[in-house]
Formats: sequence, C-alpha cells, structure tokens
Amino acid sequence: MEIRKVGVVGCGLMGSGIAQTCAQFGYETVVREVNQQLLDKGLARIYDAWDMMASKGKLSREEHDANRARLHGTLELADFADCDVIIEAIIENMEEKIKLFPALDHIVKPDTLLLTNTSSLSVTQMAAVTRNPARVCGLHFFNPAPVMKLAEIVRGLTTSDETVEKVKEFAVSLGKTPVVAKDTAGFIVNFLLIPYLLAAIRMLENGLATREDIDTAMKLGCGYPMGPFTLLDYVGLDTTLYVAEVIYDEYKEPLYAPPPLLRRMVAAGMYGRKSGKGFYDYQ
Ligand code: 3HC
Repeated sequence: MEIRKVGVVGCGLMGSGIAQTCAQFGYETVVREVNQQLLDKGLARIYDAWDMMASKGKLSREEHDANRARLHGTLELADFADCDVIIEAIIENMEEKIKLFPALDHIVKPDTLLLTNTSSLSVTQMAAVTRNPARVCGLHFFNPAPVMKLAEIVRGLTTSDETVEKVKEFAVSLGKTPVVAKDTAGFIVNFLLIPYLLAAIRMLENGLATREDIDTAMKLGCGYPMGPFTLLDYVGLDTTLYVAEVIYDEYKEPLYAPPPLLRRMVAAGMYGRKSGKGFYDYQ
C-alpha cells in the first residue's frame, strides 16, 4: 500500500507538530479540530514554524509554499475518507478515544492504518472498538514532534505484524527512528522519564536544592538538553500528571505516584509554558 494522504485528528500541541511533520515530508495532510478557533490556533503554530524555518534558510520559498499547499484544515471527520493513514492526537481521555475510533473505522478505507499518538493509554483497548483491530497501532511522537527523532511504535495485542512493518516504514519516511514497545502503560520513554521528573519534584518539595540548581545540574552534569523543571514546563504539568497517574494505576509502583506539589500546581492551572506559568514564569 502506498501512503499518499495522512489524516491527523487534533491540532493541539502534538497534533499540529505531527501534521507539520507529515506535510513537511511530502504527504498530503488533512488535520481536524473540533472548532474553527482551535483549528486556526493550531494551523498558525505550524505556519509560524515554517516561517521561522524559512527565515533561517532551512526551507526554500518553494518548499515553504509546497508545505502550505499540502496542509489542509477541516472540522469534518468525513474529510478523512480517502486517507491512507490516520493519526489520532486528541485529548488523553479513553472515553473520547473509544468514541472516535469506531467513527474513524466507518469513514476510512478498509486498509487505512489507524494510529494513535497516545502517550500512555492502551492501544489494545482502542483497537477493540473497531471492526479490524489488526490495523490499529500506536505511533507515539515526542515534543517538539518536528524536531525529536524518535517514534515509539506501540504494538497492541491484536496489531498485526504487517501493520507494525508498515508503521515502521511510515515512521522512517517522516525522518524518525522507530522503536517497538509492547502495549503497557508508559511504553519505553515515559516508563523511564516519569520517575525522573517526579523525583526532581520530590527533591524540590524536600528542599534539597533550588529548581534552577537542579536544572543546571542535570544539563551540565549529564548533558541533557533541558533540566527536569524546564522539561516539565515544556511537556506540560497536566500531561505529566495524567501520564504518571495512568502508569501508577497500572503498576501501583510508588515511583509513579504523583507528588502533592504536582497535583497542587495542576489544580492551580499552572501547566507550564502553555498556561504562562509552571515551575518558571513565561508571562
Ligand atoms: N518546527 C521546526 N523546527 C523547530 C521547531 C518546530 N516546531 N521547534 C524547534 N525547532 C528547531 C529550531 O528552529 C532549532 O533549529 P536550529 O538548530 O537549526 O536553529 C532547533 O529546533 C532547536 O531549537 P531551539 O534553538 O529553539 O532550542 P534548543 O536548541 O534549546 O532545542 C529542544 C529545543 C529541541 C526542545 C531541546 O531543548 C530538547 O531536545 N529538549 C528536550 C525535549 C524532550 O525531552 N522532549 C521529549 C518530551 S517527553 C514527550 O514528549 C513524551 C510525552 O508523551 C510526554
């Protein structure tokens, strides 16, 4: 099967980054949001990124215009009818996902791949509400999706070998290096990253060092591109809390239990960069 057209459901932080990547790598791309305001916001993020790349000489004027011509926004799921691949990147809520998957299943062609960008929820559970669970698979991108080189392929219990192979090829065609993980909470990256981020918050709660010094220590001591608090703000504290809860729910391991400070900050609307305030101030 040749992949020509990709549908992305959701144009938030991850959905817009995924749609940007697909259009940049030559795929006709249609991205859907639930209302015009959210769609315009997501598309503006992509156009800004391309303008920034063009101004740095990373995109020629022709490439810039060709990317824009390949990208289409929509409010209608029906516009996915002729897509060869669908990537779901909506809110991390299983109820919403298991409403979406049967709807997609009925709209798309029988051989269209149905992929989810979930960072922690069960691919098998999403596949179970479709008529052909063999074509459902996880394809997890990392923030910022156009830049980060990894794609986790999450194999549900019912995902076929053929689907995994096609998704691997697709990931490579997007400039990503694929790794394959089983469908267990956290997959590979979040299973290792979340305890590290939570441990940093516990250090701060216990007054062991300042957030700035912890960030500096991990950047300069370990060569990480960002310290844990900068990364937490970048990923979003709400997202981190959600992923930690999902993994904790599955394993009941104290390492994944969200620290009180994280819960309080999320309750206060301090989500990080996206809300203007997290561990640092972005206003
Ligand atoms: N589109 C295209 N290019 C982009 C871009 C975008 N949306 N965003 C950034 N870039 C480019 C910049 O133009 C720049 O290009 P250049 O080097 O050619 O000038 C390059 O990326 C680096 O960006 P910056 O110069 O702005 O900043 P940094 O050098 O500090 O890099 C970073 C930024 C890539 C975010 C780096 O700090 C980093 O790798 N941080 C760690 C990110 C990380 O760990 N992500 C994973 C989070 S976990 C996750 O997503 C899982 C989820 O399930 C929770």
